[in-house]
Amino acid sequence: MTPFALRDGELHAERVPLASIAERYGTPCYVYSRAALEGAWRALDDALAGLPHLVCYAMKANPNLAVLDVFARLGSGFDIVSGGELARVVAAGGDPGKTVFSGVGKTVAEMRQALDAGILCFNVESEAELERLDAVARERGRVAPVSFRVNPDVDPRTHPYISTGLKESKFGVAHGDALALYRRAAGMAGVAIRGIDIHIGSQITELAPYREAARKVLDLVDRLAGEGIRLGHVDLGGGLGVRYRDETPVPISEYAALLRGLFAGRSETLVLEPGRYLVADAGVLLTRVEYLKPGPAKHFAIVDAAMNDLLRPALYDAWHGVEPVRPRPGAPMRWEIVGPVCESADFLARDRALDLAAGDLLAIRTAGAYAMAMSSNYNARPRAPEVMVDGDRVHLVRRRETAAEIHAAESTLPR
Ligand code: LLP
Repeated sequence: MTPFALRDGELHAERVPLASIAERYGTPCYVYSRAALEGAWRALDDALAGLPHLVCYAMKANPNLAVLDVFARLGSGFDIVSGGELARVVAAGGDPGKTVFSGVGKTVAEMRQALDAGILCFNVESEAELERLDAVARERGRVAPVSFRVNPDVDPRTHPYISTGLKESKFGVAHGDALALYRRAAGMAGVAIRGIDIHIGSQITELAPYREAARKVLDLVDRLAGEGIRLGHVDLGGGLGVRYRDETPVPISEYAALLRGLFAGRSETLVLEPGRYLVADAGVLLTRVEYLKPGPAKHFAIVDAAMNDLLRPALYDAWHGVEPVRPRPGAPMRWEIVGPVCESADFLARDRALDLAAGDLLAIRTAGAYAMAMSSNYNARPRAPEVMVDGDRVHLVRRRETAAEIHAAESTLPR
């Protein structure tokens, strides 16, 4: 589906003109499409029909409560990486019993919180974490459901900052150590072995790394079964890539076909942790051109969104499409789309052919994932509002922060 498309010469979100949202809520502003969120979740879930599975949305991609609410209503589980994310699952009406807890640095407080909430599984990433979890669970009179996140040492062939399954990476336990760790966990009173987990990276656009990693992990599952350690689920993580520019993402039907092949005749439930795939295309960042500043070397369009709103271009040199909300047929010039923040890295897009005028509205595409989620208050900039469109209805799902809210938790020194 195309949730953001031109109608009568104007970019819309579903049936709502983006210009009307800018008028009502100001810019910069994130706009999400409920239909696009639901469409992506259903496409994945339907593709896996008949295979016992649980989709656990990796909410780090977009943790807005309304986004979580949309997925929870569809029966989604969640992948979390902090106590704060668990609190969001609960606040949004999600089911902790369908929630897996990933991350290399779980604190004692987070372990207690997750045990009390009754999560589905802790994805344990080191022997030290296993020991801590066993102790915390026993002290609480509980048994912690665990799987080990195994590092399969497979190259996902993506940006180095988002590759996580190589042996140089901080994530997971070494493939060669996994059997010994399972044996150790099997003898612990505070933990109960439930599954196994991998996550090799993000924005993956090839099937081969998935195949290689999954085969390695299923081989471990069989070796464990040979020792009498039977697993209930196999969690293959997230990582499905999307198209920002000209990438060719893996079609969901091919991904599902691979999974069906791998799990044919097996008893374990398949767990997945997709983030980006479910939300990236469902969002745009609306911004307005404040000034045009043509120059001798480059022409700058200074907009009211900045790297604090959308960090991906500055951090990963990521490319996001930029479209005028009301395109003009005039002759384009090449523009650097930059924000007002005092850093040369404060660019949202480079060298774009656009016909621009001050006051124009632009939509920055594929901004549903790792966009608002990675925003900050740098330069004391209030975080942007978030709006969810549902057909012809518009819901403000996070209002714009005020300047006072930014420093509300701070204080000056005593006089
Ligand atoms: N599971 C685990 C354990 C993860 O660490 C991640 C993402 C996911 C699932 C979801 O991966 P996805 O399906 O979204 O690829 N900020 C970066 C992406 C960082 C991804 C971190 N981990 C970006 O903007 O591209």
